[in-house]
Amino acid sequence: MTQLAPAPTETIRSATSLPPGPKWPGPVQTVWYTFAQPSFFAASRARYGLTWTMRLPNFPPAVVTRDRDAIRRLFTGDPLVRRHGNDLFRSAFGERSVLLLEPAEHLDRRRMELPPFHGQAVRSYSERIRQLITTELETWPPGRVVATHPPARAVTLEIILELVLGVRDPELQAELAAIFDSFNTPLSKLALFLPTTLGRRAWWNPISKPAYARVDRMRGLLSAHIARTRTDPLLGKRDDVLAMLVRARDQDGHGLSDIDLRDELVTLVAAGHETTATAMAWACDLLAHHPAVVTRLRETLAAGEREYLKATVKELLRVRTIVYVAATRQMLEPFPIGDWILGPDVLILVDAQGVHADPELYPEPQAFRPERFLAAPSDSYAYIPFGGGAHRCLGAALATLELELFIEALVDHVELAPARPLARPVRRGVTLAPSTHGLVGIARAPQRAVASSQNRTVGTALGSETTKP
Ligand code: HEM
Repeated sequence: MTQLAPAPTETIRSATSLPPGPKWPGPVQTVWYTFAQPSFFAASRARYGLTWTMRLPNFPPAVVTRDRDAIRRLFTGDPLVRRHGNDLFRSAFGERSVLLLEPAEHLDRRRMELPPFHGQAVRSYSERIRQLITTELETWPPGRVVATHPPARAVTLEIILELVLGVRDPELQAELAAIFDSFNTPLSKLALFLPTTLGRRAWWNPISKPAYARVDRMRGLLSAHIARTRTDPLLGKRDDVLAMLVRARDQDGHGLSDIDLRDELVTLVAAGHETTATAMAWACDLLAHHPAVVTRLRETLAAGEREYLKATVKELLRVRTIVYVAATRQMLEPFPIGDWILGPDVLILVDAQGVHADPELYPEPQAFRPERFLAAPSDSYAYIPFGGGAHRCLGAALATLELELFIEALVDHVELAPARPLARPVRRGVTLAPSTHGLVGIARAPQRAVASSQNRTVGTALGSETTKP
């Protein structure tokens, strides 16, 4: 074990002390956290400052921090002195998921998995992603109000299944999509995760049984698909993620086992669709309320410039932080933070939402203003939508590309108008989604509307007006 860093101040309490936090009993904190996470965290930040402790029953003390120096130290340095705090995902994603591997094995797995998610590899999927997004947008009826979150989820699921599984097998994809989609309700997530605090299956729980049965069905389908892929005579020519993972070798020349591959596919599909779909729904809500941003997007894209589009995606992921806790870590050595030194019995939660709402970093943090990302490059610990360190999001380049292509297609194909006041963030598992399900009014984009007819009424006061053919 390495030497403990010198005490940062003389006021350090004992090695076992915890930062203060809400005094409410554990069950009350659970209810507040479950049903109103944004207000629970905002109130606790306001009362306790950068770092505070949340206490939930059946859970280790959770220290929530937006202290950037602590975040830097959590994300850098020797990866072997820290472990993930992702045990909760064990029963759903499987023991061999990248999210759950211990440090030494995790490093090897990341080396094997990075190539298909590298920026250049991901860009080769652009045309297909654009096609899938455009096909979906063409079905959004002009003159109507659309809840954009469900169709966004369908399209991101289609994209990730195709990219990850490779071959186009509509039956397999449809069955997997139905199973994954069935977990997108709060009750299903509760069934999978809540009774299994440390990620062990609670078979005694009647709500969870059907959820586990669906997970097992999904694992069976994926295992059969992996077996077919291993013997595919075209394996060497395939460029999907699964084919690349089947071919990948670690430094000792070993490949991934069938269980490794199965748990990895579950993780990639689960981690890779709901998150991006939620960001798409937020994009619809925000753009509907910010016509000036839409105008500038159209102007810059028409001039062949993509910087403003990139800045819009960055700002979207800041102002509506999707994964509000960007990382959970357990330090195997005493970890100084503020006035305290945390032990390994504590989970440290990185409060990305708190960092992104800091007015010193982002003046008027609640304002949606892509321009702020045009000037200076973002400091890595001040901008953490994809987490950081060893477990930083493997799909960050893919998600960013999907969002750029989605926003580009959106401003090209449709005119958005607000159907409700700006949505509130509500917790859906590990993400914060729009309270309105991304409800927006749809009309054709101006150039298309002008081109197709002169006596067309384009709906802007939505739900009431229709677009006449
Ligand atoms: C806007 C979309 C997305 C957001 C906001 C997001 C966010 C995150 C965050 C914060 C983490 C860190 C978790 C931790 O430290 O424990 C993470 C990890 C991960 N993400 Fe994403 N993600 C997104 C899209 C994707 C996509 C499209 C994929 C698909 C390939 C993906 C795959 C993963 C995987 C496999 C990990 C675990 C990496 C590891 O443990 O080493 N994510 N993501």
